[in-house]
Amino acid sequence: MQTPAFVPPTIGVFDSGFGGLTVLRALIARVPQARFSFIGDTARLPYGSKSRRTIARYAAQSARFLVEEQGAKYLVIACNTASALALDAIKDAVPSSVSVIGVISPGAEAARNASKTGDVLVIATDATVQSHAYAIACRAHGLRAFEKACPLLVPLVEEGWTDHPVTAEVIRIYFDELNADAAAQGLHPDTLVLGCTHYPLLRPIIERVAPANMRVIDSAESAADALLRQLRFDLGAPPPSTPSDPVLQFFATDSVEKFERLGSQFLGRPVGSVGLVDLGG
Ligand code: DGL
Repeated sequence: MQTPAFVPPTIGVFDSGFGGLTVLRALIARVPQARFSFIGDTARLPYGSKSRRTIARYAAQSARFLVEEQGAKYLVIACNTASALALDAIKDAVPSSVSVIGVISPGAEAARNASKTGDVLVIATDATVQSHAYAIACRAHGLRAFEKACPLLVPLVEEGWTDHPVTAEVIRIYFDELNADAAAQGLHPDTLVLGCTHYPLLRPIIERVAPANMRVIDSAESAADALLRQLRFDLGAPPPSTPSDPVLQFFATDSVEKFERLGSQFLGRPVGSVGLVDLGG
């Protein structure tokens, strides 16, 4: 029997800004033949300091744009904050035939596979930490998680200061606090989850500052693995991995020029032109 031809699905990827391009990069590496449509809600970034209600409303608008106007059959919620606080609202906003994949559960699963002590550290935005979504997901995998908000890191990355002495110093201070607080709780963490779209860009500095035996989990990679598993399940076979030029479309709700300028740094390839979208209020 002949294998049916692969019809490239449209995969919608959503973030509050362009940090989520780190997730898109991981997705392209796994499914190079898919079509990708990415929206960054740059007009309303940051989500990490907003309430659940507001985040849910904003995220649902982007999800609807990707499904209704871009024809996405799969949605990857690259934004950790939206995944933590609005995954159910996003699922409710789109037809049930659309697969919605967030980054929290795949990140916790990867932490479980990496950790030997069963104790993990999670760094994320304020809203993500306050939701305890990572702690809950980690507990479901038999892990104890210690979460810390690192609110200064997003603006530093947005500024393009990914390899800057100020950023290195900020990370050092956060880590001193993190290690002291985790030790005071009697934890022996051996795994660190990067629970924010922007943190993979800081991975080289983070790895320099973190204890030598600490395993670093990039939730972008884990979410991309989760999408691949879903596609394999839906197609009944692995999607083709033959290198190809992916079809990419980018949208932002503001700051299109900045997206075009800094986006390639996050994506690791030129972003090209970015469409401006008005999602309403
Ligand atoms: N995308 C957000 C996240 O991954 C970080 C930026 C923001 O606060 O909106 O949590």
